[in-house]
Amino acid sequence: MKQVQLRIRSNAEIADNVFRMEMEGDVSAITTPGQFINIRVEGGFLRRPISVCDVDTVVTGTKRIEKEAAEAFGTSLYNTPQMWDSVVKEKAGTCQENVVEGTVTILYKTVGAGTKALAGRGQGEVLDVLTGLGNGFDIRKAGDAPLLVGGGIGSAPMLMLAKQLINDGVRPTVVLGFRSVSDMILQGDLYEIGCDVYVATEDGSSGMKGFVTDQIRALREQGMEFSQFFACGPSPMLKAVYRDTQGLEGQLSFEERMGCGFGACMGCSMETKNGPKRVCKDGPVFMKSELLWD
Ligand SMILES: Cc1cc2nc3c(=O)[nH]c(=O)nc-3n(C[C@H](O)[C@H](O)[C@H](O)COP(=O)(O)OP(=O)(O)OC[C@H]3O[C@@H](n4cnc5c(N)ncnc54)[C@H](O)[C@@H]3O)c2cc1C
Ligand code: FES
Repeated sequence: MKQVQLRIRSNAEIADNVFRMEMEGDVSAITTPGQFINIRVEGGFLRRPISVCDVDTVVTGTKRIEKEAAEAFGTSLYNTPQMWDSVVKEKAGTCQENVVEGTVTILYKTVGAGTKALAGRGQGEVLDVLTGLGNGFDIRKAGDAPLLVGGGIGSAPMLMLAKQLINDGVRPTVVLGFRSVSDMILQGDLYEIGCDVYVATEDGSSGMKGFVTDQIRALREQGMEFSQFFACGPSPMLKAVYRDTQGLEGQLSFEERMGCGFGACMGCSMETKNGPKRVCKDGPVFMKSELLWD
C-alpha cells in the first residue's frame, strides 16, 4: 500500500451517472488487476474504495529508453511496474529505477455524497489516494480460455485484467451485464483490444435480453468451454454466476462496504471455508472454492 497524491487528468461522464477519471502520479503500488484504490473525499471520514480499471506508465524521457528496452525483450509497458522492474534488472541491467510515474483510470457510479463529490473534481486537482490495495485476480490460473464477467460498474476491473491476459497471449471471452443500453461501459474498449465481448441487458435494449448468467448459459450451450472465470459485480450477480458455473473454478471480486480499507478494522470481515477473511486485505478477490454459498 502506498499513500500518494494523484493529479486528475480527466473526469467525464461516460454513461448514466458513471464517470471515468484518469489520474497521474506515482502508480507503482498498483501491480495486479482487481486491486483497488481508496480515495479521500472532502467531508467524509472514510475514504471511498474504487477498483482499478486500467493503469499505464507515461512514456517520456528516461521512460522512452525503458520502453525500447521493454520492446527488445518482448514485453510492453502494460506489464506491471514490478514485472517491468524485474525484467529490466534481470535482462537489461541498464536501468535500476522503478517506473513510478503513470496514470490510473477508474470508473465510478455516483450513488452518494462521496462519489458525487468526486464527480465535481476537475482536471489539475489533486486527490489523496491509497494505492495498491487488495490481492487482485490471480491470472496464473486463467488457463487458455478465461471468461471475464462484469456486472454494471463491476465491469471496471475487467479492462486491466483483459489487457494483461492478451499481453500473455490469451484471448478472453467477456460477458458484460447492464440494466439498459444507457448504463453500458467498456464494451468498446474491450472489443478494441481483441476480446470477444457479449452483452446482456435486463430490458433487451442491447445484446441479449436477460442477465449475464443467461448469456453464459447460451455460450456454454453453443459448445464454448472455459478454463476459469473472473467475475465482479453486485452480490446477487456473483451468487448467480457461482450457482450457474458447475464444474468451472473461478475468482470473484467483492465490493463490500468498507471501513479502513487496508486490514486494520475488521469492518469487512467475511466467513469463508478457510475461516474469517477481510475483504479489503485478503480479498477483494476470492476463489469460488473458498466461498460458503453451497
Ligand atoms: C473493493 C471495492 C471496489 C469498488 N469499486 C468500485 C468501482 O470501481 N466503481 C464504483 O462506482 N464503485 C465501486 N465500489 C463501491 C464504492 O466504493 C461505493 O459506491 C462508494 O464508496 C459509495 O460512496 P458514496 O459516498 O458515494 O455513497 P454513500 O453515501 O456511502 O452510500 C450511498 C449508497 O451507496 C451504497 N453503497 C455504499 N458503498 C457501497 C458499496 N461498497 N457497495 C455497494 N453499495 C454501496 C449505500 O448503501 C447507499 O445506498 C467499490 C467498493 C469496494 C469495496
Ligand atoms: S475495511 Fe478495515 S479491515 Fe477491511
